[in-house]
Amino acid sequence: MRSIANRIKSIRPSGIRRMFDLAQGVEGIISLGIGDPVPAFDTPSFIKEAAKKALDEGYSAYSPNLGFAELREQIISKYKNEYGLDYSLDEVCITCGAGEALYLACQALIDPGDEVLIPDPAFLTYPPQVSFAGGIPVRVPISEDNEFCVNPEDLQAKITPKTKMIILNFPSNPTGAVMRKADLKAIAEIAQDHDLFILSDECYEKLIYDDNVHTCLATLGIQDRTIVVNSFSKTFSMTGWRVGYALANKEIINAIMVTHQMNAVAANSSAQIGCIEGMKNKEEYEKFAKQMLAEFDKRRKELVNGFNKISGIHCLMPKGAFYTFPNIKETGLTSYEFSELMITKAKVVMIPGNEFGDYGEGYVRASFVASLEQIKEALERIKEVLEKKS
Ligand SMILES: Cc1ncc(COP(=O)(O)O)c(C=O)c1O
Repeated sequence: MRSIANRIKSIRPSGIRRMFDLAQGVEGIISLGIGDPVPAFDTPSFIKEAAKKALDEGYSAYSPNLGFAELREQIISKYKNEYGLDYSLDEVCITCGAGEALYLACQALIDPGDEVLIPDPAFLTYPPQVSFAGGIPVRVPISEDNEFCVNPEDLQAKITPKTKMIILNFPSNPTGAVMRKADLKAIAEIAQDHDLFILSDECYEKLIYDDNVHTCLATLGIQDRTIVVNSFSKTFSMTGWRVGYALANKEIINAIMVTHQMNAVAANSSAQIGCIEGMKNKEEYEKFAKQMLAEFDKRRKELVNGFNKISGIHCLMPKGAFYTFPNIKETGLTSYEFSELMITKAKVVMIPGNEFGDYGEGYVRASFVASLEQIKEALERIKEVLEKKS
């Protein structure tokens, strides 16, 4: 039989899948591997009720390709109120999660041979999405010494005449880092000077701790060359509903919409009605968000402080999202060996850091969506296994 496409064969098999396969059927496993808030905090019931009612009222047909106007209006007023940004109805496209928005943006903007700068480590779908569009992912190393933030000079050093776009994601998956505004401004200037697009994945925008502040890239004088991607998955705890969106200028959104129209057609109609309610009912949402953030904050501190008490591990306090990225180099194990040992002996799932790029070697990603009890128990088990090993 003829072979599947080379473009798919060139995507390296996910080590995450391998970790989950290893964990399959293991009794008493604790997962610090997942990035899904729903098991901890189900979608708020007022959102669910609105979607159920929508189905009863006949919202079973396609929505417009760009999504329901009322949802786009809600998003436009959010960006106006929170960031002072102006977008029009044809500058927003509702997508099947941020995942689809990222894919569409790559398809809309990248030509074969274009280079796209991606931090290393970063969310693991970016390089394949660039490759699917025929582009070349160029990794920009980031380090723990710089709190996992992108150094503008390092980014500048990777620019060639073929560079077309930069992908950024803060708060970050997998490190929980939040960029300083001054550094983002410097990157915005680089983008301006070299005529580059910035694809800014801001889907953890609201999951931010202490007095840290999220900067929306489009506020830095580069709205016209920025594609902001956001999602209902994380902040509204709606991962399975599959609703996200892209904001950009009219020309880019039209290109995104054309691609969207040719595959997904539109995002799920009743889910969009749930999202409208989620954005309209600010009082209920604020209550939910406050509670979720306070709980994640407790879990974050428990996990990081616990890691830092274990010999061989040290861990920065993440400023956002729900991931920690502990350094495990002193254990003498590779990221992969460490994760495998922890699944088989401690029955704790963590993701090898090099799954997010070569510079993630020596780290693992451990999320804190697990309960406080599970986090405490996982830490005990990790400690015990490492003590036995040494
Ligand atoms: C950084 C980042 N971007 C995008 C996504 C995809 O989100 P969605 O569920 O909206 O497709 C995720 C999901 O984990 C993520 O962590």
